[in-house]
Amino acid sequence: MAMLEVKNLSKSFGNLKVLEDINMTVEKGEVVAVIGPSGSGKSTLLRCINQLEKAGGGEIKVCGTDMLLKNDSGKTVYADSKTLREIRLKTGLVFQNFNLFPHMTVLRNITEAPVCVLKKNKQEAQAKAMELLRKMGLETKAKSYPCELSGGQQQRVSIARALALNPEILFFDEPTSALDPELTGEILKVIKELAAEGMTMVIVTHEMAFARDVADKVVFMEGGYIVEQGAPEQLFGDSASDRVKQFLQRFNN
Ligand SMILES: Nc1ncnc2c1ncn2[C@@H]1O[C@H](COP(=O)(O)OP(=O)(O)O)[C@@H](O)[C@H]1O
Ligand SMILES: [Mg+2]
Repeated sequence: MAMLEVKNLSKSFGNLKVLEDINMTVEKGEVVAVIGPSGSGKSTLLRCINQLEKAGGGEIKVCGTDMLLKNDSGKTVYADSKTLREIRLKTGLVFQNFNLFPHMTVLRNITEAPVCVLKKNKQEAQAKAMELLRKMGLETKAKSYPCELSGGQQQRVSIARALALNPEILFFDEPTSALDPELTGEILKVIKELAAEGMTMVIVTHEMAFARDVADKVVFMEGGYIVEQGAPEQLFGDSASDRVKQFLQRFNN
């Protein structure tokens, strides 16, 4: 079953076309890596899918439900607000800069949305948060504040926070770009474990070895377009387009 279907998606900021004719599908349990130079529209794509940015045209379907669609007169419209809210709960987004609430403890960062948005019982939410913190190797940090943690630890908290809402599909926007190589490794390990558990994920990354290793599919974007997408063996192999080869060369030196 397709967890995400994007068709002919476009987006402009004023006169600047940022996404054009984007088509991609993510199947259940698939890991898709999105790569490409800075400014190519990767973050905007994730933000459109996660309803943080308004799309210009095209179609988006999440877990089989239309989020952005063409109405009977062929006009691009969003689903009603109830449907949009339901879809929002099915997707999680992990940001490059963690975006934790600085004035809340690690535990409260994770329980805030389940308790305040999903109206979950506080004890249950805390038990689930502790379970996720254990999974992230951070059970001793529940009472700490984000500023007391390393970047890698903060990013693991933000992954736990996203998982606390039981998303059907998890998006990562350069989750290791703010981290030094050692801390990068601990985040990549967590993402690899989630992949092994069958989590459906879309990961924007500059970690090419990781993308090649973990992704089922790789999408290369440039200038608002998907230049090429396919199996990692294809994009990282000899059959890739010259532009993809040229881009990847920088990472091989
Ligand atoms: N809020 C915004 N307003 C105007 N232009 C934006 C905005 N966000 C992104 N852009 C522009 O859209 C293009 C794509 O940006 P982005 O999606 O952040 O690319 P990437 O994540 O691949 O680096 C860039 O030219 C960027 O300057
Ligand atoms: Mg970006």
